Amino acid sequence: MLTVNGIRAIYGGVVLGLSDVSLKLEEGKVVALLGANGSGKSTTLKSISGMLRTEDGKLSEGSIELDGKRIDRLAPERIARLGVCHVLQGISVFPQLSTEENLLMGAYLRQDRKNVDQDMDGVYRYFPNLPALRRRKAGYLSGGEQQMLVIGRALLTRPRFMLLDEPSLGLAPGIIGEIFSILKTICRESNTSLLVAEQNTAAVLEIADYGYVLQNGRTAYEGKSGQLEGDRVKKFYLGLGESGTFISYHDKA
Ligand SMILES: Nc1ncnc2c1ncn2[C@@H]1O[C@H](COP(=O)(O)OP(=O)(O)OP(=O)(O)O)[C@@H](O)[C@H]1O
Ligand SMILES: [Mg+2]
Repeated sequence: MLTVNGIRAIYGGVVLGLSDVSLKLEEGKVVALLGANGSGKSTTLKSISGMLRTEDGKLSEGSIELDGKRIDRLAPERIARLGVCHVLQGISVFPQLSTEENLLMGAYLRQDRKNVDQDMDGVYRYFPNLPALRRRKAGYLSGGEQQMLVIGRALLTRPRFMLLDEPSLGLAPGIIGEIFSILKTICRESNTSLLVAEQNTAAVLEIADYGYVLQNGRTAYEGKSGQLEGDRVKKFYLGLGESGTFISYHDKA
């Protein structure tokens, strides 16, 4: 289990990224991390994976534990080796490498070559569009195909915990539904736990077991997915109207 306990994250010694965030990610679960722009979703994921430091940030309070052991002072590569894989916001393929070469980059740290072939087949099974694109330069793939590719590359690290930052960003509704349903299958079949930061509340709550809502760097509300779809949360924390569409601040008042 992965636990985040009351963390405060600061950037450059002064700018606050988070003031008080706590959450839990249990084995084999999908957890949604919701909140408006700037509420601290990405900073929370970066705190867990150790990437905060690469942006001149640090934790000034709280702790992060993996199976009861603190990981918040470890370097990002140590955290990755413990099975925590962070898929960053905005799709980041290696554009000049082929689809297959991109996937293999995910297996870079692994010694078990035999299992890598097997996992590669697994990725191609989850994402049936990818085999035909095996030799194509990743930079030429569509946005949806690139997002599938980065998730596939993450799977090749054999993660126990996958931190996904806005996997729906810039994608058409049909593709979003497809990707989320594949994520749910991955979680079920390989017992990988997913922490999914999303603006697309409706899509992620379809597959999540539990969710947290961040507001100004704090965990403001949490609950089972069904509960989070309720009106109170929609209106006051997520700025969503009855139909799931965005309402203006004026409408909320
Ligand atoms: N590298 C940085 N240096 C300074 N401040 C930063 C940095 N990255 C983020 N912040 C600030 O930290 C706060 C939280 O940002 P964060 O990116 O975590 O939000 P978010 O919830 O992921 O937003 P979005 O939905 O827009 O991706 C914001 O006020 C942001 O301006
Ligand atoms: Mg973000």
